[in-house]
This record gives sequence, structure tokens and C-alpha cells, in this order.
Amino acid sequence: MHLLVAEDYDALSRMAARLLADALRAQPRASLVLPTGNTPLGLYRELAALHARGAFDTARLHVFQLDEYLGVTPDDPRSFYGWIRRVALDPLGIEAERVVRLRGDAPDPDAACREYAAAVRDAGGFDQVVLGLGANGHLGFNEPPADPASPTRMVRLSAETLASNARYWGGEGRVPPYAVTCGMANILAARRKLLLVSGAEKRDALRRALDGPVSPESPASYLQHSGHVTVVADTAAWPWPQRGKARWSGAVGRLRRLVLAAAGR
Ligand code: GLP
Repeated sequence: MHLLVAEDYDALSRMAARLLADALRAQPRASLVLPTGNTPLGLYRELAALHARGAFDTARLHVFQLDEYLGVTPDDPRSFYGWIRRVALDPLGIEAERVVRLRGDAPDPDAACREYAAAVRDAGGFDQVVLGLGANGHLGFNEPPADPASPTRMVRLSAETLASNARYWGGEGRVPPYAVTCGMANILAARRKLLLVSGAEKRDALRRALDGPVSPESPASYLQHSGHVTVVADTAAWPWPQRGKARWSGAVGRLRRLVLAAAGR
């Protein structure tokens, strides 16, 4: 695991965009999972700028949606598909036929999840997954408790997630209570994982993800046991004292030393 701590949100976004642009340049046919949420907005802005300057090509990418509300159509601006199209797919010139949607509006959501799972298998799994972190430790909509082997499926959103996502729906009572999510199994099996974490309200979730017990109660904690993970956090979200006065312990101590070694310090 590589842990990178950026000074602030803008630095986090630039750092993440450079990492992702390098990965996409190296693998132009990658199967790529892109998340919604506020956290990756800066990444998408920076990535679009790098793409406009010719830093990488998107013509052969295959993009997979990470999660979606149940019963919300893709043309609804509050749908995660509508969101990802506005902030990432359109700016990066990625056509609809190269996107595998999670069809929250399908008449049979279980069948839609099976179709998605088959598309992931056909693609040979994910090359690169980009993730945000829920305040309750969820990845996508894998709400705690989440089994690391969980498949793509329909889920009921937790009270904490309904409260946290009320800001996008104009009130908690308006947030759709069910969703479909790419399962933990596909996420953890991805060949590269990039987790972005910003803001003090994510600090506790990040601490549990990196240094807490690996448990279904903190779905992101399974990243501790999964290879090829890069975490980019800003200082507001970083739960430990900064370098210099730090007294790193346990897993984080080892990981942090690894990062510093990789950075040549
Ligand atoms: C949402 C989404 C996640 C997202 C997370 C964090 O509920 N299901 O995919 O990563 O919450 O969102 P934000 O970045 O806005 O805090």
C-alpha cells in the first residue's frame, strides 16, 4: 500500500490526476471504475486538463460505474450516471457505448447486477478502480457490514449514508433508500486501487480503514489485505500527526516508512 498525504484538496486532486493519467497512458485499453461524490471532482477537473493537453488517450478505455441509486433513471441529474457523465465522461470524451452502467432503473435489478458482473468477467476484471470513502467506511455502496466476497447486488442504504447523502437530494427523506453497488469482491480484485480521502469528516473512517481491525464493519479496511492500493489523503483527513513529530505505530508505521522510502526520503 502506498500512502500519499497532500497538503490540501487541490494538491490531492493534482496528485491523483497525475497517478491516474500515468496509469491510463501505460494501459490505454484499461477497464476503469470511476466513482461519484464530491471527493473526486478535483481529480476529474485536473484529469480533463491533462487529457486536453494530450497526456493520455481515452478512445479505448472501458469505464464501469461503481454504484447507483435504485429506481433513478440515468437522465435524472441526481443519478450517479448523470453525475459521472457531467463531471468525467463528457469532459474526457468517453461515449456511452464504452460505459457499463449499473442499471438502478432496470425492472429486475438482480438481473441488471448479473449483467454487470458478466461484463466485468468479460473484461477480465478491473485494471483500475478509483474510490471515495464513505464516512461509515463504505466503498461504493458496500455498507457495513460488508463481506469481502460480496458480489454486485442490491443494498439498503444505512441511516448514516442517507443522512450524509441528503445534501444531494434536498433532505434525508428524499434520498432513495435502496441502491445497487459493485461488490467488494470485484473492487478488491482490481489490479490497481486508488482511494481518495479529503476532509476532517473522513478522518475517523480513514483511521479505521488503514489501522483498524480488518472487519466487515469497516469495508475499506479490506484494502489493508489487498495488493496495489494507493491512498491519497489531504492533511485534513489524515488521522495521524504529521511527519517530524510523528510516532507511527503498527501497520501505519510500516506503511508510512515504505512511502517515505519510495519518495527517496
Ligand atoms: C457516496 C458514494 C460513494 C462515495 C462516497 C463518498 O455515498 N456511494 O461511492 O465514494 O459516498 O462521497 P463524497 O466524496 O461526496 O464524500
